[in-house]
Formats: sequence, structure tokens, C-alpha cells
Amino acid sequence: MKEFLVLCGLVALSSGAVKLTEHYSWNMLDWDYPDPYSKQQAYQTGELIPQNALPVGIERWRNKLFVSVPRWRPGIPGTLNYIPLDAPYDPSPKLIPYPSFAGNQLGDCDNGLTTVYRIKADKCDRLWVLDVGTYGYDPNVTNVCPYALNVYDLNTDTRIRRYVFRPEDIVPATFIANIALDEGSTCDDTFAYFSDELGYGLIAYSWELNRSWRFKHSYFMPDPLVGDFNIAGLNFQWDAEGIFGITASPRGSDGFRNLYFSPLTSHTEFAVSTRVLRNETKVGDSYKDFKVVGVRGPNSHTTAKVMDDSGVQLFSLIDQNAIGCWNSALQYKPQNIAVADKDDVGLIFPSDVKIDETRTVWVISDKMPVFLESDLDYTDVNFRIFSAPLDALVRGTVCEPSVPFTPPPQYSNNFDIMSVLNPQYQQFSLPNPNLQLSQNLVPQFPSQYFASQFPKPSYITRNRNRWSLKQNYLKK
Ligand SMILES: *[C@@H]1O[C@H](CO)[C@@H](O)[C@H](O)[C@H]1NC(C)=O
Ligand SMILES: *[C@@H]1O[C@H](CO)[C@@H](O)[C@H](O)[C@H]1NC(C)=O
Ligand SMILES: *[C@@H]1O[C@H](CO)[C@@H](O)[C@H](O)[C@H]1NC(C)=O
Repeated sequence: MKEFLVLCGLVALSSGAVKLTEHYSWNMLDWDYPDPYSKQQAYQTGELIPQNALPVGIERWRNKLFVSVPRWRPGIPGTLNYIPLDAPYDPSPKLIPYPSFAGNQLGDCDNGLTTVYRIKADKCDRLWVLDVGTYGYDPNVTNVCPYALNVYDLNTDTRIRRYVFRPEDIVPATFIANIALDEGSTCDDTFAYFSDELGYGLIAYSWELNRSWRFKHSYFMPDPLVGDFNIAGLNFQWDAEGIFGITASPRGSDGFRNLYFSPLTSHTEFAVSTRVLRNETKVGDSYKDFKVVGVRGPNSHTTAKVMDDSGVQLFSLIDQNAIGCWNSALQYKPQNIAVADKDDVGLIFPSDVKIDETRTVWVISDKMPVFLESDLDYTDVNFRIFSAPLDALVRGTVCEPSVPFTPPPQYSNNFDIMSVLNPQYQQFSLPNPNLQLSQNLVPQFPSQYFASQFPKPSYITRNRNRWSLKQNYLKK
């Protein structure tokens, strides 16, 4: 017991987070090249400029931890990358482009990815990736390639689908940085949803139909009363940021999920049934199907959310350097929202949060406002990836399920995640490629509560130009 406590104490030194364990950290990102010569070439040609790289999204699938890096500045050799979890532990591992360097070629619209934000793996071993096709950051953005969904087979590391959004799916202001999946009872029965933050839309894509459509709603718009942000000692206004973090709930008794969403400039949570989103003919006729779920309370802007099959939702709390939680068995109101973990040093701008199939939570923090506004101090740690078992993260909070959640058999761990999370005990274990996840074991849950009695916030519709808007960003 004493030794255990000493070990915990050592781990805790690296970060102020209590439940989340810091697993990787970097002062500056770096990439893994096949040999020193090609890396030297990359430096010389400007293909690799490490100080221009900021990680934004993460996802874990078996022995890979994916990390996305948008091409906001030159010198990013891969926008979609991974860290091999079964390699010898390196606290600051070099990124490996996925599926390859060639598959990450800037401007190669048909074969390569140009800029990727958040990504999602599914139970059918597919990785869903939206290439937004942009190079640069406001005001110097070029749309090099069209918005294209790219889906990879993770077992063969090959792209199995590329789908270009229809012109009707996007508007001139479109900016999409989040994705959610709605997995049905078969692999074909999968829908993906994309939140258009600055164009105020929600795009649905059906794998089976290979077709997309776009919803509009006033709930996608920012709340004009909460556009002021204070993060990392910076004060700035993000007053036009609409629908951003999205996640699907477990399936309800009617067989459908709820898609939960929040605008970035908002403290309010909304939801819509996937029964509506899955039906293209609902596009013009679904105003009342969108629900107000409730409000989190002050200082609760969020960029990313994820919901577990137990009905617990986790989300970033960017003003509080924290990860928040909500148990969807309870009404959505401030008393039922908790901070699951917080760290004023390590969790500055928690950009993404994910829960993997072993119910391990992954969080990445990246000090994004400092990167965009001033300059990161590269003598300091700037990017961190944390992990924690979900049950441990919410234990003792109002989010803890009253009855312990028993995961269905498809959660059987096909990869030795414990050795990865405790590197000092690491054994070299490779995932079993013959283990396929069962597709027909999606658990059923009662429908979620909707706090529809909550007064609906009023919105001002604004359609300001995205470029001029972004110039006002992050003024000190
Ligand atoms: C935009 O690009 C121009 C020309 O390359 C450069 O002078 C300017 O500093 C850039 N502005 C920003 C905000 O990056
Ligand atoms: C899906 O649609 C895209 C159009 O963006 C097309 O290029 C592709 O071949 C289609 N794939 C399938 C499997 O139908
Ligand atoms: C889709 O929505 C339309 C219009 O509300 C409705 O008539 C139709 O039955 C729905 N389709 C399905 C498959 O639910």
C-alpha cells in the first residue's frame, strides 16, 4: 500500500490533475521519418517546421493513438497522425503520418489529406476523417481542396471511401471541426454528423446511401450574451461561434440516439433525435424536433463532448481548464453538472476528449489561444495527453451512475491498455487481429430527459464575414 502511494505521488508531480494521468507531453511536436537523411531534407525544404504544429484532435483504436494537426501554418508533414501505443514508452513520441506521408500530401485532393480537425473510430474498425481542405489561418486561408469525408479501414490502413460534400451542404462561412457517429445495428447502418460552427448548420451523412444533407436551426447559433472568454490569462471575444461539440447518446428504447450539441459561444446544451437527422425529408420540417436540454452554468464554454454507453457525458470546460461531466439519467442543470478533473497548468485548453472501447478516457490539451494570439514558449510543456478509466474519473461526483455500469461483451479488451498506461510494467503485447467486435450488442437505454421547461435563450442572427470576424480574435 505504501509503495502504491509513493508511485501515485510521483505520477502526480508531473501534473496537477488528480484523476487524469499525464501520459504524453511535448514542448514541441516532432515527426518520425524513415531515416535521418529524409528528415534533414524535410527541414531544409520547409516541409517540416515543428514550431508551427499544434495538435487538436485525438482518438484511440487498439494500438494506435491518433493525433490531428491542422495545417494553419507551413511545415506540417502530416495532418492525420498516430502514436504506436505498443512501442517502447517515450514520454514525447514522434508522430507518424496516417496512413502514410503520401496520404497526407497538402493539396493532393484525391489521395491526400490537407487539414483534419477531430476524428472518430467506430466499432467496425473504421476511422472517420473529414478533410476540410484548408491551408493557413485567418486571414490567410486558402481552400486548397473541397470538404471531403475520408473513411479508413483500420485493419488494412487503406482508405475505403471518399465522399465530397455537395455544394448545398456548405455555405461560404462554413467551418467544420467536429464529428459524431451514430452507429446502428450493422456496419452499413452508420451515420456521421458534422457541426458547421460558423455556417450554423448540421450535416448528416449516410454510409449506406453515400449521401449527405444539411439541417439549419436557430439553436445552432451563438448566444450573444456569452461571447467573452478568459483563457490562459488572455481575454478575447469569440462571439460568432455556433454549433461545435457534438456527440450521440446510447440508443434509446425507440432504437434511436440523441445527438447532443452545444454552440461554442453558449452555456446551453441542445439535442435532437437521430430519427430526425437520419431522414433527409425532415430537413425542411423539423424545427420543433430540436430540444433545449438545459444550461451548464457560468464559465462553461465547451469545444468537445463524448458520451459513454453508460449514459455519462464528458465535455471540455475551456474556461476552467477542466473536464466536466453529466449523467444523462439526471436533469441537465448546474447542480447536476460536475468538474470531473481540473488542472490550471496541464489542462489549459482541453481541445478534445474521447472514450475508447475499454472505457478509458483520453484528453488532449494544447494552449490553443496562446498559439493563435502570441507565441508558445517552447522551453515549456505545451501539449499534453491524459488518460483515466471513466469510472474512476466520475467517482464521487454527481455523474457517478447509481448502479455500476456493466459493459456488454463487445468491450472485452483486445489490447493490453493497462501496460500502456503503466509504462513501468509494459509488456509488448500486440492486438489480436482475429478479434472482431460483435455488431449486434448495442445496449438499450431509456430515453433521455429533456429540460424543455427551461426558458429558451433568444438569439441575434448574425452572418458576419468569417475573415473579418477572425481578425478580432484573441485581442488581449
Ligand atoms: C498573411 O500572409 C502575408 C503574406 O505572406 C504575410 O505578410 C502576413 O503576415 C500573413 N498574416 C498572418 C496573420 O499570418
Ligand atoms: C460516394 O460518393 C462519392 C461522391 O462524392 C463517389 O465519388 C464515390 O464513388 C461514392 N462511393 C460509393 C461507394 O458509392
Ligand atoms: C421521414 O420523414 C417524413 C416527413 O416527416 C415521413 O413522412 C417519413 O415517414 C419519414 N421516413 C422514415 C423512414 O421515417
